[in-house]
Amino acid sequence: MRAALNALTDELRRLKSAGVKTVAVSEESVAVLRRVIAARTGQRATAGVSPVATTTTSPTFSVRPVSRAESRPANIERAAAEVAAFIPYQPPPSVRATAAVVKASSAALIPAPPAVALPAGDKQTKWDALVALVQNDSVCKQHLRPGKKVVLGVGNLDAKIMFVGEAPGAEEELQGEPFVGPAGQLLTKMIQAMGLKRSEVYIGNIMNWRPELPVSGGGEQFGNRPPTEEEMRYCLPFLRAQIEVVAPDLLVALGSTAAQGLLGFGTFKALGEVRGRWREFAGKPLMITYHPSYILRNQSNRSKRMIWEDLLQVMERAALPISDKQRGFFLDK
Ligand code: URA
Repeated sequence: MRAALNALTDELRRLKSAGVKTVAVSEESVAVLRRVIAARTGQRATAGVSPVATTTTSPTFSVRPVSRAESRPANIERAAAEVAAFIPYQPPPSVRATAAVVKASSAALIPAPPAVALPAGDKQTKWDALVALVQNDSVCKQHLRPGKKVVLGVGNLDAKIMFVGEAPGAEEELQGEPFVGPAGQLLTKMIQAMGLKRSEVYIGNIMNWRPELPVSGGGEQFGNRPPTEEEMRYCLPFLRAQIEVVAPDLLVALGSTAAQGLLGFGTFKALGEVRGRWREFAGKPLMITYHPSYILRNQSNRSKRMIWEDLLQVMERAALPISDKQRGFFLDK
């Protein structure tokens, strides 16, 4: 129970550090959180309690309940589900039926992956054609909220190293560029620690639009959710095309979702099983490591060192110079 609560608190901290002030969670999860508080304080669970904001150890947050039908899978829902596993609770049959409909209909909205054919010509010609193709793709456009952008990769078309992340977030869909929010700023620092400039590598994502969550009146989405398997499968040809154009020496998958998207769903259960070891994707060596947002949640030198060791392997394979100082990064306690 304590571990599950810690996971939930960690997730809220992560969202908070990413600038999220409100999270939308389903009625079921709010009910779970109320029961947790009631169990810990000995009070009766009541309507109107702002569950997370009332715990003294948790980051301050306002939790806005939404109906299960509105709700889509999100980390917060998963964390609440883990907590729920410790508390007997059976949602009413009507709620279960609605959840099944939501799952079926969201899967049905994503058609089969597109066939991407690049024109003849140099890299720039091919990449320009790819940008036009993705920005005009009807499925990508259909999932955008007003004023938001489809996001393709950016960077050096002759890069040796291509980083692959998960999906655009709030800043990315606004600017139309991957990794420009808090996780992106940290990724830029990681690249600089490798002795490179951001402009020397290529940075892309598994997904080209921000996976949707329900929004309230103002129309702004708070928080993110990982893409579904269908969503990732739909966007994968766009990523393959970017790899074909850039032809990097190697790929680096950032985080579990990107790794699942590249290796295939169900290939592993925990990222620890696959990180730090070389795999292959599209004929390129693939290193899997943690997502920078993991460091935003776990600021310890131990966590930083784990990513750094993976990046040292990337530097070695890319024949980048490595100083003694770089070899020793994050070894201090
Ligand atoms: N996280 C990602 O995985 N990709 C982005 O573009 C931004 C944050």
